[in-house]
Amino acid sequence: MKHPIVVGMQYGDEGKGKITDYIAEQADWVIRFNGGSNAGHTLYFDGKKVVTHCIPSGILYSHCKNYIGAACVINPKTFTQEVEDIKSSGFSVSEKNLKIDFRAHVTFPIHLALEELRENSEKTLGTTKKGIGTTYLTKVDRTGVRVGDLYNESGKDRLQYLVDFYAPLLGSEASRVCEETLMEYETAKELFKPFACMDHTFFYDVAKKEKCLLEGAQAVLLDVDHGSYPFVTSSSTLAGSAAAGVPFPLRNLGLRLGVAKAYMTRVGEGPFETEITGDYGDHLRGKGGEFGATTGRPRKVGWMNLDELSRAVRLSDSDHIVLTKADVLCGEKEVKALSNGEWHNFAGWDEVGTAENLNSNFKKYIDFIEEKIGISVAAVGTGPARNELVWLKKIESFWE
Ligand code: IMP
Repeated sequence: MKHPIVVGMQYGDEGKGKITDYIAEQADWVIRFNGGSNAGHTLYFDGKKVVTHCIPSGILYSHCKNYIGAACVINPKTFTQEVEDIKSSGFSVSEKNLKIDFRAHVTFPIHLALEELRENSEKTLGTTKKGIGTTYLTKVDRTGVRVGDLYNESGKDRLQYLVDFYAPLLGSEASRVCEETLMEYETAKELFKPFACMDHTFFYDVAKKEKCLLEGAQAVLLDVDHGSYPFVTSSSTLAGSAAAGVPFPLRNLGLRLGVAKAYMTRVGEGPFETEITGDYGDHLRGKGGEFGATTGRPRKVGWMNLDELSRAVRLSDSDHIVLTKADVLCGEKEVKALSNGEWHNFAGWDEVGTAENLNSNFKKYIDFIEEKIGISVAAVGTGPARNELVWLKKIESFWE
């Protein structure tokens, strides 16, 4: 069996949660392969709004099991809060529907303090301040502590080494942060115990018989290698990273769905060529509800950049695009897109229409996008709810 992968094609916040949630209805497993609580997937279910951060989007389905992959990072405090939020919305989170790969790295208070230091320097990146970059930092310099290490005798020594090594950077804050970090060790150990999956190759058998959906966090243009470095996140966000990040058998990976917004948004620092500033920017931001699901920060808004989208399509070798939030542009007089460095103007539309009878102005916009990126727009998002999707291309099955 071949399994689908969903990734963001721009700078995050494309509405991946809605798409994975849609596909998850048929899935046995939803698997996250990168990032941590920097993500915010907003899901609407039975009139309730639930925001997941590091827990995969399948958690709202009672039939669905969820997996946090090896290349993810996990913070005991935000994880606890997230579990509480999900439970208080009436859904369950237990060892029956969630596993955490033993190789996922743990974010401790020292990671947050180090990030604070970095973000307060002149080289600020505008991160989510969730200690993501610094957890990947200690992972890559091999001083990190993984979920599985919490159950080894040497685990605490590892954390002590990390603390001793990095604490001098923290100046007068060092002793408080070290103490908090070491105290969190036991909490993390108890907390993750029911969920820790200690199997090195768990999905090699599962992928043969159960339907899996791999969901990426953040997006291609924020990829640490291929994104707009240094204004990127610290993980690998491309569809190709799914195999290594879970890990998942390469030959069992199939359909690659890229999620892009009908316009664009970006949070944090970094270039944004098509940004719309001033009153019109404020208008679109308000209309699209463009405020961070994790941090509440206002997102910069802009027109579609098809040069960047084409690059993202290639980098993630996408089969189709799902274009979200097309409804936000309804009622606008004119819509613009950048392609080959030139601006193209489109007459606006009042409604998206149906698959059989797509609004003719909107269709011109879609046709132009398809022509420039070389793949089809399989579906269009017309609202936040799970079923507010117009499928333009029939995908018989997400699994082959
Ligand atoms: P970090 O991932 O917190 O280190 O932040 C690095 C950059 O990625 C910043 O510009 C963040 O705003 C951005 N970023 C991280 N996660 C998300 C996300 O889920 N949506 C949108 N932007 C994100």
